[in-house]
Amino acid sequence: MPHSITDPVDRRTFVKTLSAAGLGLAAMGGSFAAAGSPRKRYAIVGTGSRRVMYQDAIEKTYPEHAELVGLCDTNPGRLELARTRSTQNGAKPPPGYAASDFERMIRETKPDFVIVTTVDATHDDYIVRALELGCDAISEKPMTTEAGKCQRILDAKKRTGRNLRVTFNYRYSPPRTQVKDILMSGEVGDILSVDFHWLLNTHHGADYFRRWHSQKKNSGGLMVHKASHHFDLVNWWLSAMPKQVHASGKREFYTEKMARRFGLQGAHERCHTCPEKDKCGFYFDLAADRNLKALYLDQEKHDGYFRDQCVWRPAINIEDTMNVLVDYDSGASMSYSLNAFNAWEGYHVAFNGTLGRLEHTMVEQVYVSGTDTVQGGIADDGVSIRVVPLRGPARNVKPWSAAGAHGGGDKVMLDEIFLPSPPQDKYLRAADERAGAASCLVGIAANRCFETHQAVAIDSLVTGLERPMYPPMPSRTRLLPMPEKSNPAHL
Ligand SMILES: NC(=O)c1ccc[n+]([C@@H]2O[C@H](COP(=O)([O-])OP(=O)(O)OC[C@H]3O[C@@H](n4cnc5c(N)ncnc54)[C@H](O)[C@@H]3O)[C@@H](O)[C@H]2O)c1
Repeated sequence: MPHSITDPVDRRTFVKTLSAAGLGLAAMGGSFAAAGSPRKRYAIVGTGSRRVMYQDAIEKTYPEHAELVGLCDTNPGRLELARTRSTQNGAKPPPGYAASDFERMIRETKPDFVIVTTVDATHDDYIVRALELGCDAISEKPMTTEAGKCQRILDAKKRTGRNLRVTFNYRYSPPRTQVKDILMSGEVGDILSVDFHWLLNTHHGADYFRRWHSQKKNSGGLMVHKASHHFDLVNWWLSAMPKQVHASGKREFYTEKMARRFGLQGAHERCHTCPEKDKCGFYFDLAADRNLKALYLDQEKHDGYFRDQCVWRPAINIEDTMNVLVDYDSGASMSYSLNAFNAWEGYHVAFNGTLGRLEHTMVEQVYVSGTDTVQGGIADDGVSIRVVPLRGPARNVKPWSAAGAHGGGDKVMLDEIFLPSPPQDKYLRAADERAGAASCLVGIAANRCFETHQAVAIDSLVTGLERPMYPPMPSRTRLLPMPEKSNPAHL
């Protein structure tokens, strides 16, 4: 049986936090339409692969509550593809605007919300301008890639009083919400440390080294682009703020030297024109997939962006092997790793608590961005959750489940974004700029450690970062039940 959640003080705080969250949501979505009110107006900037989820949600799933009024991108070909999709969705295609006309789009189409799905390093610019022009913003993770950009966003939010939501869809995946539920229940006590190891395979993992993500100036590297999902999960799972980061990182697999060890002559520019495509196990055929061809190969003529650059090329400057230690204000610490060349994709996480250990593993299906594969889809029997008390038998927990991208999490999150009266969420999964900052700053600090080999304090990176709204966790001072005596003869 789970132990009682918290002491009376925590229970009161919990109720207070929940009602504050209700207010928070209402405020966040001063924005979110009240029942019976007109449809909310959305513009999307960044019309690549991730845009599709939001566009289809607006035009197909929630058309009575939402309307797509403008599209904006640097690439006119992808803009036109997005407009064509509106027609396919049975909606009127919204006007498309060049990136240089972003502000004109806002003036002419008057959106309530700007959805930001551009290259990571450009999020800050669109978020800040959207807020300053009187819109609320919804940004994909990572919120941003550098400390100075993070500061700009925090300042703009305070200056304008507008709202920013950062869409951490990982929080909504049912098994991850379930982990939060168990941690909140107090069954494993208060958490003193976390072991978290994320594996990217040589399909999805390799793909980061082909795309814009392979340049730190675009993505912040995998510590920011990818791990900000994971750092956010831990901040939220623990209801804690990261304080200090130590890290080391290197790139040793996706290198020209490794290409030679695998029998190739060396690195080349891209797969499409590769002279060694028959020999390379990492050859990626953009022309073979209808979606990839339409989104990227056919649009190269507009901006010269190659979606299939060689994974062995020396110009890559992100890491593929990363180890991080994080200290939290709750007193917990985390040991984390991210490797991008693994045999399978998914993660192991374990929470070491004062009453036991919660162990959770997820094995994901093979996924490649821009194709019909399901992002974050869970492999058959791929989830396990186990609670091991300090003494006594382990309890295997049946995982919560749902179908769809990110283990069904995307659908729950979209309901919360687009429904006029989303249900109150006791897990407080909706994230704003504070949680956006608290996650990307761990990655930004790790990047700094890679260069300096010195620990980095989070509060040395930005000023004025407030604690996000998190559900209360088991008290770290309550009395604990003494574990049963164990007789060494019976162990
Ligand atoms: N939450 C998730 O699980 C998830 C999944 C995929 C992507 N994402 C995020 O979504 C965002 C987009 O990723 P994607 O996979 O769609 O990439 P993509 O390369 O398919 O699309 C990016 C688009 O941005 C456009 N663009 C680039 N610079 C621009 C600028 N300055 N102004 C306007 N448009 C610009 C490009 O032309 C392109 O159309 C990224 O921030 C990524 O991290 C999140």
